Amino acid sequence: MNMVDVILKKKEGGALSTEEIRAFARGAADGSVPDYQLAALLMAICFRGMDARETTDLTMEMMRSGSVVDLSSIDGVCVDKHSTGGVGDTTTLVLVPLAAACGAKVAKISGRGLGHTGGTLDKLESIPGCSVEESEEAFIRQVKEIGCAVIGQSRDLCPADKALYALRDVTGTVGCVPLIASSIVSKKLASGAGAIVLDVKTGSGALMRTLEESIALARAMVDIGAQAGRPILALVTGMDQPLGTHVGNALEVKEAIDILAGRAGGDLLTVSLELGGRMLVAAGLARDVADGKARMTAALESGAGLRKLAEMIAAQGGDARVCEDVSRLPQAKHLIDVPAPQSGYVSAMDTTAIGYIAQDMGAGRKRKTDVIDPAVGLVMRARLGERVEAGQPLCTLHLNDASQAEALAARMRSAVTIAKERAALPPLVYAAVSPEGVERA
Ligand code: URA
Ligand code: CA
Repeated sequence: MNMVDVILKKKEGGALSTEEIRAFARGAADGSVPDYQLAALLMAICFRGMDARETTDLTMEMMRSGSVVDLSSIDGVCVDKHSTGGVGDTTTLVLVPLAAACGAKVAKISGRGLGHTGGTLDKLESIPGCSVEESEEAFIRQVKEIGCAVIGQSRDLCPADKALYALRDVTGTVGCVPLIASSIVSKKLASGAGAIVLDVKTGSGALMRTLEESIALARAMVDIGAQAGRPILALVTGMDQPLGTHVGNALEVKEAIDILAGRAGGDLLTVSLELGGRMLVAAGLARDVADGKARMTAALESGAGLRKLAEMIAAQGGDARVCEDVSRLPQAKHLIDVPAPQSGYVSAMDTTAIGYIAQDMGAGRKRKTDVIDPAVGLVMRARLGERVEAGQPLCTLHLNDASQAEALAARMRSAVTIAKERAALPPLVYAAVSPEGVERA
């Protein structure tokens, strides 16, 4: 097949055939199509779009470009959850143990931090000894024995997506609904998920900033899942401020433990229960969402969720005593408050900027080879809509290098807007998207 013809066809706005999309995905995976042709086609797709059939074809071809995990030996439906990425977004560490404590089987393949967003694997690795690299056999055995496992993807999962994602990152072609949808869903399908609950973020810290774009992304992913015959639904949830109060790897593990121990709550718990309740419905373990949330809440209150997290950490080689004593997690040397420059109401946050502040502290990577400092990050002390007085802390920086404090504090002050009037609070759950349609909150 002549790739120039395929590029020209998309450039003119045509729909690519299944064979053309197969050649594109295979060429990306095996390197037989050069990067400049792949990049040109990606840009044409950004401008011309893809219809539902093309998007599903691309997803299936990317899934088939590598190995596909077979979870069929696990009893029941394996449920998975995927977030499009956020800041202080630790729902996985809260809802996976709760769902497993309710009887769900969660075989989860997670990612590392990307850009301003955190990644579950980096958070788990902040627990002393905890490994996120397991063979497929050990992964499946762990899910059979304790109900859950969270590991990284093997090198061979969706190589076409790996190649295309790396190119998109450097050619301005990340922000495109069919490309994002096929990238995410291909990895979920390849990781063997039987049913999928998606958390599509919207707002100042999300990949998609506007509600309409976020709903379009949710619909595209739900459509692919439905065409692939997989039960799938999505919630569109707010990322107008960090979801939890803690941002940083060990700090986010601490917040998840505090929640599972009943010492903390807030928006992170609320979203975790909304998503987890739907996972239980998808797994056939709850009658409806209300029943699912009630079961998750019961597992929280009985301590079963925290015990399940300890079992999972131990099974992955980590020090499960962190669940009883969070001071066993890595701690930063310096805790420095950032005071509010004036009195008023917290009216907006640049959540992406807050994510990058944490990254620059060492909580994330700027280059693939950067080494993460598990202890550093920040704890938000004010939320949207709250009144703050001048001098009262907006957040506490957890640093190992105190010389960074001044510059980081200045960036933090510009990331948080304080106004005279109290603004209306943005909703936490904006919409639920299923194959039946979009239900706005
Ligand atoms: N996450 C992914 O895995 N792929 C995208 O394209 C965007 C976010
Ligand atoms: Ca099964």
